[in-house]
Amino acid sequence: MDFTGLLISVVLLTSLCECGNILVVPVDFGYNSRMRNVIKIGRIMLNAGHQVTFLLSDQIEHDALYKIGETSNMNKTFNVIHFKKPPVDVSKDMNSLNQDFINSLIVSAVDAYDTIVPVYSDFISFPLKDRSIWKKFARSKFDLIISDERMFVSRVISASFNIPLILYENWGPMIFDTNLVQRFNLAYVPAFLHPSSDIMSFSERVYNVWEYFKLQNVNRKVYSISIAICKELGYGDPCDNIENADKTASLVFMNRNDALHYPIPLMPHVISVEGFFLEDPKPLDQHYVNIIEKAGKHGIIVVSFGSLFRRLWPELRTTFAKAFAALPQTVIWSYEGPIPEGLGNNTIVSKWIPQESLLNHPATKLFVTQCGASSSFQALHYALPVIGVPFFFDQPFYCQKLSHRVKSGQTVSLEGITSEKLQRAMKEVIENKTYKANAERAAAIYHDQPIPPKDKLVYWAEYVIRHKGAPHLRSQAANELNFFQYYLLDIIALVCCVCIIIGTVLVIIAKKVICFIFSYQKDKYD
Ligand SMILES: *[C@@H]1O[C@H](CO)[C@@H](O)[C@H](O)[C@H]1NC(C)=O
Ligand SMILES: *[C@@H]1O[C@H](CO)[C@@H](O)[C@H](O)[C@H]1NC(C)=O
Ligand SMILES: *[C@@H]1O[C@H](CO)[C@@H](O)[C@H](O)[C@H]1NC(C)=O
Repeated sequence: MDFTGLLISVVLLTSLCECGNILVVPVDFGYNSRMRNVIKIGRIMLNAGHQVTFLLSDQIEHDALYKIGETSNMNKTFNVIHFKKPPVDVSKDMNSLNQDFINSLIVSAVDAYDTIVPVYSDFISFPLKDRSIWKKFARSKFDLIISDERMFVSRVISASFNIPLILYENWGPMIFDTNLVQRFNLAYVPAFLHPSSDIMSFSERVYNVWEYFKLQNVNRKVYSISIAICKELGYGDPCDNIENADKTASLVFMNRNDALHYPIPLMPHVISVEGFFLEDPKPLDQHYVNIIEKAGKHGIIVVSFGSLFRRLWPELRTTFAKAFAALPQTVIWSYEGPIPEGLGNNTIVSKWIPQESLLNHPATKLFVTQCGASSSFQALHYALPVIGVPFFFDQPFYCQKLSHRVKSGQTVSLEGITSEKLQRAMKEVIENKTYKANAERAAAIYHDQPIPPKDKLVYWAEYVIRHKGAPHLRSQAANELNFFQYYLLDIIALVCCVCIIIGTVLVIIAKKVICFIFSYQKDKYD
């Protein structure tokens, strides 16, 4: 019976699965949670029975964090197509290992985006220069491409071989190219990574509109540079799809969830993927079990500022170290570099920590985070009180979500940060039970979903494979409207014209009537 049952389910499963051949393209900017999330999409699709091929640079294989993070060689599990990329000069180039360059991006998000425009030349030129991989694309007959929104090469592959494309937006609703999700209303949707709520004051709305146009301007620059490189390398018309993806991409997988983000109107081609990347954490290894046991009733605090801020400048690491040293909890800090001055004997620094397993442990009292997109979802999922210390890009945006929407913690901004301020905030968030209660309420909302996030992702990817694209979900109308039509300015102009005409006619008639009455009376009394 067992065997027959197994056989039937295997037959059923294989006949139900529209086994597709999928190309997955993560962003090529060092190994970080954004890349990890796209690799997880590949793994989820593989587990659903599909054939998955990754497009990666050959350089990523030499990345130290990549080697730790993807311990099971990627090429054992997946097909991997490597494109050639020269080794980076860590101290000079714009890369994720150049800490001075990363630190220089601690400015407003749009300005930081403007700074990294040259990075996009590399993103597009290396995979286009490597002709050998294009022969592999031609042979592979992919049914679907799932790509990080910023890897424009996937837009060229999609147009060249007529393969449906799904774009993944890691940062959530505030997307670089707002046309990809159709112009949402700037009256209550922050245009980019602006850390405000959906109720904006007049000055905030002015800033929001200003930021929107600045963002579109930088984005156009990035598109035109990328298209120029693409055409110069001889890829022809498909290059235009870099800019036209808003009209051709099948779906946008948007990293958002209603418990964390403010509600916004979304077109049917935009799928909220609800933190699909959260994993069932592995049990902690003995080393950490011992640490937690030693911490006793005070519990532990987990500190991580993401992969890009594990090396901190001297004043900042001392500020953190001193604040942590003054707390009764044991602090586990994902950190790399010289031992910070003032490091307490309650603080353990380590280059790599089992972050999710630690966050999942009941002894964890607080999560000190930079509020990246992934760590914010972790804070939500594990119902943890947080101290957010945002550095750049999406981090102020996500810290705002945790401290003001979920209300599960406080944000301590880098500007004017001191050990005392940080320590006071940490103490308050640990001791005041309101934060934990709010975190638990939001987690309950987050976990109450009609379909598990991973299944939702698989469903929509298979939907695109089944229907060979999903143009019917995209509003071509919304894309074709110009500024006047979109804001109904033409209608308002028409209404104004009609009002003016009617008004003028009425005034003329009134004048005539008055004249007539006066002249009549004049006649009568003359
Ligand atoms: C997989 O990648 C590793 C590291 O680059 C390499 O040593 C190994 O030969 C590759 N294996 C296959 C099957 O391509
Ligand atoms: C840790 O440091 C504190 C304060 O500096 C001190 O009182 C305590 O004895 C130290 N504990 C250990 C185990 O060294
Ligand atoms: C706890 O925090 C909440 C929210 O910030 C605040 O309203 C409340 O007064 C605090 N309670 C105490 C006892 O400090």
